[in-house]
Amino acid sequence: MAEVISQTEIGPDLYKLKISARIPQAPADRGAAPGRFCHLQVRQPESWDPLLRRPLSIYNVQVYNPELTAETDLEADFETDLENYHETDHEIDHETIRENDDETDHEAFHETDQLEFVYQIRGRGTRLLSQFQAGEQIDCLGPLGSGFTLDFSGSSIILVGGGLGIAPLYFLARMLADNNNLQVYLGAASADLLEPLAADFARLDLRLILATDDGSLGRIGTVFDAFREDFAVRSQEGKNLKQPDYIFACGPEPLLHSLQKYMTANNLPGEFSLEKRMACGSGVCLSCVCQTAKGNQRVCYEGPVFPAREVIFNGC
Ligand SMILES: Cc1cc2nc3c(=O)[nH]c(=O)nc-3n(C[C@H](O)[C@H](O)[C@H](O)COP(=O)(O)OP(=O)(O)OC[C@H]3O[C@@H](n4cnc5c(N)ncnc54)[C@H](O)[C@@H]3O)c2cc1C
Ligand code: FES
Repeated sequence: MAEVISQTEIGPDLYKLKISARIPQAPADRGAAPGRFCHLQVRQPESWDPLLRRPLSIYNVQVYNPELTAETDLEADFETDLENYHETDHEIDHETIRENDDETDHEAFHETDQLEFVYQIRGRGTRLLSQFQAGEQIDCLGPLGSGFTLDFSGSSIILVGGGLGIAPLYFLARMLADNNNLQVYLGAASADLLEPLAADFARLDLRLILATDDGSLGRIGTVFDAFREDFAVRSQEGKNLKQPDYIFACGPEPLLHSLQKYMTANNLPGEFSLEKRMACGSGVCLSCVCQTAKGNQRVCYEGPVFPAREVIFNGC
């Protein structure tokens, strides 16, 4: 169980949920890494309805620091904690390990204090989730799934996010911004959704390009159009002739499909984070299977992050 620390409406039907959670930080495949998700129980404890959990990407983390107690201090130390998390590459900070853990646990665990999610109300499950208040307990399974590749330094990297597909990219941007040349393309239907998320990215050291369908923020049109036009123009102007080393993307299928065609034509490597409706979230029920070049894969287990070239969109 985790405790809800805050639940903030950051836009119309758009929420930021912060929970406290004791989550292993190492080994890396058990920790809270960018691209991984949590499966949240949205019903109240006395109810069985809805039965299924709802998956949400990890938007951000704050590493546990027992020396900080006041909320203001926690907020102030947020940047530093993430920097440490990155620099040590998930190394164990012994000050943060519970004193009562046994020897094995000392080697294996580094706890995360806070996990943040951003979600939009889509149906009954996310509406119920929005009713959780600070101080309430919430059943959080995870982190689950595969994360994005992180071992880049001095690389030219592009992030493309459409709609709530922006959510898994913020944690990724935080991890990559300091040591890489990062360009981030974010798009949504309108400014209502895009502005609160773009504000977080704008605080990082990166180049940010925004697009909305209705033109209420940034360029008018899709984020794929913004990405393609920006690249074409910058190449013509001789500003950015170097191709990106890697592209990460998450969003609606048409966006990812267009991007995949562009990446194939230009021989660009990258990774996509996919979304499928899920039941168990842990690889058992096969309800989230999608087709890839390696055969059928479970989005909750082998994914949600897949090499871009391997995804077969008609099969998803
Ligand atoms: C790995 C993963 C990470 C996700 N991360 C986030 C996130 O960070 N923020 C966020 O807002 N949403 C995220 N989603 C989508 C989120 O899980 C769904 O919006 C949510 O489960 C809908 O539940 P509901 O009961 O409110 O809606 P429902 O009543 O179940 O459905 C309402 C509408 O949402 C669509 N929908 C339902 N589940 C999904 C799904 N898994 N993927 C795509 N569309 C769906 C339905 O087709 C329907 O149109 C993620 C999904 C996955 C698989
Ligand atoms: S949701 Fe059950 S296998 Fe993926």
